[in-house]
Amino acid sequence: MEVPTLAANQLVPINVKEQEFHKIMHIYEMAMVQVKDNLEDMKDNLSNFYKYDVINNINCRIKTPDSIIRKMKRKQYDLNYKNLIENVEDIAGIRVVCPFKSDINKVVDLLEKDPNLEILQKKDYISKPKKSGYSGYHIIAQTPVNIGDAFANVKTEIQIKTMAMDFWSSTEHKLKYKAKDKLSKADSKKMVKYAKIINKMDNEIAKIHKKYEKE
Ligand code: GTP
Ligand code: MG
Repeated sequence: MEVPTLAANQLVPINVKEQEFHKIMHIYEMAMVQVKDNLEDMKDNLSNFYKYDVINNINCRIKTPDSIIRKMKRKQYDLNYKNLIENVEDIAGIRVVCPFKSDINKVVDLLEKDPNLEILQKKDYISKPKKSGYSGYHIIAQTPVNIGDAFANVKTEIQIKTMAMDFWSSTEHKLKYKAKDKLSKADSKKMVKYAKIINKMDNEIAKIHKKYEKE
């Protein structure tokens, strides 16, 4: 059965119709919970199969209204539901954290085979880290969510990282927040340097892991 993409039925400014906003956020929350539940099952199955926790932990969050509006303004979208649904892809965000670099491929491969998910986009910031030093593997996927008497496809952003990458991005995010969104040039440079150190460490640990995995 063809499932339509979640569509805005009313093009009104976001902050005017609060009720409508909550309704839409609830739909994203259902999508997020569905994907998280799937991943929790995957976590158990992977632990059972590989005899260690391939997925260390899974976190999720719904983007706050403030953050949604800030992002839309930054990207110069008019504040309406059509733009929100079509262009803000990380309203429902899920983060999967793995111990070893090779675990990321295991998770990505399985997500690609998940019949409840349709992968729309893959962003590999591991092979090619961002200028800030940020690395991680991102998947934008949609999942069908029951809305009343029908189903609609709802987008979620799944970030898959090692514990080391998660450490870097979480601390860098907090520093940026403290610095009101922008670190000084010198501090940004330091963070890029630390990202490289972390990447090197991840690669070295991956080598050791591979050696013992074979044995
Ligand atoms: P955002 O507007 O930041 O969401 O970026 P985008 O829509 O262009 O997508 P992108 O793939 O660049 O980033 C998606 C998400 O990755 C962000 O919302 C953050 O959670 C994370 N991210 C990207 N770049 C950085 C970074 O430099 N530092 C940290 N801490 N997180 C980042
Ligand atoms: Mg984001």
